[in-house]
Amino acid sequence: MNPNSVEAVAADTDVSIAGAQPWWRSTSIYQVYPRSFADSNGDGIGDLPGAISRLDHLRDLGVGTVWFSPFFASPQRDVGYDVSDYRSVAAEYGTLDDAQRLIDHAHHLGLRVLLDLVLNHTSDQHPWFLESKSSRDNPKADWYVWDDGRTWPLGRRRRPNNWRSELQLPRAWQWSEQREQWYLATFLHFQPDLNWHNPEVRTEMFDMIRSWLERGVDGFRLDIFGSIMHDARLRNNGRRPSLRFGLPRLQDPVRTLNTEECFELATELRAVCDEFDGDRVLLGEVFGSSDVLKRYLRHRGKPGLHLVFAFDFLAAPYRAETLHALIDGYEADYPAPDLPTLVLENHDRTRSLSRLDGDLGKARVMATLLLTLRGVPVIYQGQEIGMANRYIPLAEADDPIPRAVARFVPEALNRRLPERLNRDEVRTPMQWDATPGAGFSDSATPPWLPVHDNHVEVNVESQTGDPDSLLEWYRTLLGLRREHPALHQGDLQLRPIGEERHVIVYERTSGVDRLLVAANLGDETATIDVPTASSILLSSDSAGTVRQGSLSLSAHSAAILTLD
Ligand code: BGC
Repeated sequence: MNPNSVEAVAADTDVSIAGAQPWWRSTSIYQVYPRSFADSNGDGIGDLPGAISRLDHLRDLGVGTVWFSPFFASPQRDVGYDVSDYRSVAAEYGTLDDAQRLIDHAHHLGLRVLLDLVLNHTSDQHPWFLESKSSRDNPKADWYVWDDGRTWPLGRRRRPNNWRSELQLPRAWQWSEQREQWYLATFLHFQPDLNWHNPEVRTEMFDMIRSWLERGVDGFRLDIFGSIMHDARLRNNGRRPSLRFGLPRLQDPVRTLNTEECFELATELRAVCDEFDGDRVLLGEVFGSSDVLKRYLRHRGKPGLHLVFAFDFLAAPYRAETLHALIDGYEADYPAPDLPTLVLENHDRTRSLSRLDGDLGKARVMATLLLTLRGVPVIYQGQEIGMANRYIPLAEADDPIPRAVARFVPEALNRRLPERLNRDEVRTPMQWDATPGAGFSDSATPPWLPVHDNHVEVNVESQTGDPDSLLEWYRTLLGLRREHPALHQGDLQLRPIGEERHVIVYERTSGVDRLLVAANLGDETATIDVPTASSILLSSDSAGTVRQGSLSLSAHSAAILTLD
């Protein structure tokens, strides 16, 4: 058997051994942000050969799948989320051959590969857009969303409707002098929305997707998928401001977000993926209530996306009651075989350790929940060693979001804004070792974002083999997750919050494999009842004990028990 074939990968991949369920239901995902992962040629920018050389780390950590943030050709104004050619690789990252080697090498190591597809928009430098804006009657004239808008008295130009961009303050319409029309840009102004109502766009995009599936990728993370299908009649959004799905919105985005046609598109994309062994997976970045999110999974009797992110842990406070309510909600909303995709941090949101006041005990508790709950866990590069936000003044930000905000609120540049606004702080180079370039790059060229000063202590090399390190905690948890069917495919029974209000307890069960997970999020030692015949399998609390049906857990610690 060719070691890189899909069959060989399936045989190799830990969790496929577990049983009949599809691999992606029991996998764990590691997000690589290529620009900050590993720089092989000393230009200060991470690249694909660098990523290839560091894939061993993922295998050793014990994850099943790697998701690469976009590495396609791009002017990089939004670090690759502004694509100028979906079928080639950004020159500073490498070549198509490198991408193929990356996919093959990951497979060789038993890792599945997800690429990041930005389907909603392209870069304004994409040749399609350059052609589209060149006139009103070129072959690509309708590949983007163009409209004349309306005219105010005295001839002032007026946008086609009231739609706002995802950033809220800016409007979603940009004026093109060249074409003398408005174009839609749901995210940033240099990211024009593709017109998915145009069948030619669909055909081209589906073919592009097939070309990557033919190269062997195991699926895709789908960027802002819920924004792709805007109302073709360009009707106004609701005028009322809303706090929709936890995000403040200046209007009610009924015509631009999670429309019926978005759910339909999910089923069409699924059909394209299913042309390939029925084994490839779609993970949607979608925002909404659980009822909305579930419509992406199946719509009108047809299967849609395989997985959708549940982003609640990104913002939830470290409080047992809150997290308990979220877990309870997931159990109700995602009955098996569905399951949520869980995430503590990513390239857009704050580092979880920074949200946890740098407390490694709390980080272990959160890692335990992430890797033992019923769901697909996602680990963002560096999370496993406890990388923290690295303060970068807004005035020096590379990220276009703070700069877009500053156009509307100039004084923001002089203030330290909420973490979400300067994403550079969570995108600094991966900390591999204590050398000046943190092992990310060994050249004198400064990396594209500064290395965090704490890399001297916080790095992969120093934590490897140290039983007290966060890295080894992650590795051990991932090992248990692979070994125990209870963890990677079992049911979950959540205990109601008891007298110990700061403790979360649940059981995971698959046949005879039965485990109990307990996490103490309080500042005091807690004692909880456990079955008499139970013993500690793993504990982050060296003082933790089980005696006569009672488990004692120190503040901010977690344990996994076997139940006989
Ligand atoms: C990605 C961001 C990106 C945006 C626009 C997102 O949600 O995660 O990093 O800026 O989509 O493509």
